[in-house]
This record gives sequence, C-alpha cells and structure tokens, in this order.
Amino acid sequence: MRILALILLIQFISAAQLKAQERISGFLPSTDPDRIILSIKGDPTTSMAVTWRTDTTVNESVAHLVPNMPTIFLADSSVIVTGTFSDVEGDGVVGRFHSVNFTGLEPGITYAYRVGSGSAASEWCTFTTASTDPQPFSFLYFGDSQGRNSLYSRVIRQAYRSTPDARLMIFSGDLVDGGSGSVLQDDEWGEWHEAGAFIHSEIPILPTPGNHEYYDPADRSKRDLNKYWRAGFTLPENGPEGLGETSYTIDYQGVRFIILNSDAMMRDEDIARRQTQWAEGLLGNNPCKWTVMLFHHPVFSTSARRDNKVIRESFKPLIDKYGVDLVLTGHDHTYARGMMMPDGEEKKYRNAGAVYVVSVSGAKQYKQDAEPWWEVGMTNTQTWQVISVIGNELTYKAFDASGDLVDQFILNKGKNNSKRMLIPAITKE
Ligand SMILES: [Fe+2]
Ligand SMILES: [Fe+2]
Repeated sequence: MRILALILLIQFISAAQLKAQERISGFLPSTDPDRIILSIKGDPTTSMAVTWRTDTTVNESVAHLVPNMPTIFLADSSVIVTGTFSDVEGDGVVGRFHSVNFTGLEPGITYAYRVGSGSAASEWCTFTTASTDPQPFSFLYFGDSQGRNSLYSRVIRQAYRSTPDARLMIFSGDLVDGGSGSVLQDDEWGEWHEAGAFIHSEIPILPTPGNHEYYDPADRSKRDLNKYWRAGFTLPENGPEGLGETSYTIDYQGVRFIILNSDAMMRDEDIARRQTQWAEGLLGNNPCKWTVMLFHHPVFSTSARRDNKVIRESFKPLIDKYGVDLVLTGHDHTYARGMMMPDGEEKKYRNAGAVYVVSVSGAKQYKQDAEPWWEVGMTNTQTWQVISVIGNELTYKAFDASGDLVDQFILNKGKNNSKRMLIPAITKE
C-alpha cells in the first residue's frame, strides 16, 4: 500500500513538474532582450525608464539613447546608459530583468533607444518626454487584462491603432491571473508581453497591482507580490513606505495621477490608513488642474457580493473634499460608469462630482447584480478607454473590442474649478 502511495506521489510530482515546464516552454529567456517595457520612474519631463529580460549569461544592463533623427546612423550619436539587473526564479526558470532609467532628458522631445548590446541589441524604439507645461495629451486605460491572451491582445492592439500617440497606458490591476511564491505563472506574463509587443516599448505604462498579482496559486491564503512586478517594471518609489512601485504618483502635463495599492489596503488597516494620509497630502497640495486616481478595487461595486468598504470609507471623503475628477478601477470584470456627488448632495451635472469607472479589457467577465449606481453598464464586453485632456476640458471615451464607441462624456472646468459634465449621445454610423 505504501509503495503504491509512493508511486502515485512520484507520478503526481512528475506531472506537476511537466505542467510547470509546459508553462514556460514558450517563453524561455535568451541572450536577446525580450519583455521590453517602458515606464516612468521619476520626473516625466526629464526621464524615462525601460525594463527588459534576458537569460543569466548577460551580465551588463546597457541601453543606447539618442534624440530621434532620420539618419540610419543613430548608434554613432547615441550615449550608453547603464543600469542594474535582478534575477527572478520561478516555474523552473531564471530570468534576468534589466532596468535602466534615462535621466537628464529634454522635455517634449522624441528619443530613440535600444537595449542590450552587440549582436543581442534590440531594435531601435522611440518615446517622447512630457512637456513642462500642460500641453494636450491622451492616455489609455485598461481594466483587468487577466486571463489568457486569446481575447485580450486584440483590445490593446485596437487601442494602439486608435491612439498611437497616447503618452501613457494605465492598468488598473490583475494584469495576469495568478502567480506568487514559487509559482510565477511565467506563461501568463509571457503572453501578456506578447499581446502588448512593441506597444510596450513605445508608450510607458503605469500599472497598479490587483489581488491576482498577490495570489500564490499553490495556497490562495498566502499573499505576496509577484516577483515579476518589481523586477519587470521600473516604477516610482515615491509612495508610502513599504509600498514601493505599487503606490506612487506622477504629474503629467497638468494631470496628477495618484496610484494606490488597494489590495494591500484591503488586508491591512495600517496600510489603508497610511495610503489615505499620503493621498490626502497629494490632494491638498495639488498644482494640477486634473486629478485621476487609479486602484484595483472599486469604490462602488457592480456585484452584490462585493463591497469594498475599506476603500470607500478611506477614499470617498477625500475624492469629494478635494474634487477628484476620475476614479479608475477594475476587479469586477464588467463595465460601469457613474458620476457620484459628495455624500448627501443631490446629483447635478452642472456642478459635477467625481466619475467612477469599473472596466475590464480581458476575457474574464462577471454579471452586474448590485444596486445600480452606474449610468452606463455592460457585461460580457471587453473595453478600453482613451482619455484626452485639453486645457479646461477632459474627454473620456470607452470603446469595445471591435473599436466601436460605447460610452463617452466630457468634463469641463470653469471658474473656481466648478466642473460641468456633458454626455454627448453616441451615434452609430
Ligand atoms: Fe481583482
Ligand atoms: Fe480581476
């Protein structure tokens, strides 16, 4: 009996190892850079960061940088910028993640860069630094891309096709389905990078982690940030202590982005309190005309069984007090958009409150069965959003996976920062 149990155990372990091997077989690192992704770590007017992966034989983190120009001899004029690397081991493979932060850049300039060196250098990619003044710009917003790529990749590609000059891509968490501890679900990260492909190397991303970036598939009661997060992105560390690269802020051409780690808040009262205090400091001393908050768990849910009380009680008073414009979230795997007034105030569009959005870009979809707080809601619909800011006007548009406009509104700021919301009708051609 014991021998039989031992044989079964060996078979089980072998099957698990085979499964783990299958998960990484399509995405093994090599000497050639892959998973190249831009992000912003410091001042967006003078810096840009890039992260990429190789195998562990590549011992230097080297990038070339030059103002973009038509000549084919970019390399001759480029400067070499070096960075650091860290190794991540999981699913039986070690990936070396390199990180370079380009600093001392000129505002509003397009640069060309490549990562790696010699025969293993990447193609030349480009990015543009932010202007010092609030020039008009657009950014893309994606809800949970979580799940396999078969349906998500068309969404990010459609978004890029529509707005190739977007300056930022913000992700509200659950980029992948799981991975923590020793099981990193490398295949999911491989597919996620494959979906974004060169788009990731041209438009910087600002993500916040969701609960699925913390799950250990082997033990869902454990919570630990997926090791690919800090190694695979190069993000600001200007948030509350202990929340580096998961809770941070940047000001970009007149928009203050406040990015918070709601999953950590849901599990820890002290983290909830510290993030709330930190956010209040940013809101109370805000030089930007527009304010966008991004985190994973919705302030108002679309599901009757999900109520993120900690998030609502922490943030709703701040959102109201300081007149936050947009609150962008994910987690509920539906689409919902609604404007909410400060508590106790009657709804009015002439002096509008904050607009709350729940969105999902991936294939996993849930139903909406909460008391409707939203004005537009959709289920079984992957969406992506373009938000454009031009001076006193912010235009929000949500599109479905086929590129059709499915929701829109305009916020207009007048004197004393009074805010008016307009909801143009969507006309189908
Ligand atoms: Fe989630
Ligand atoms: Fe999710």
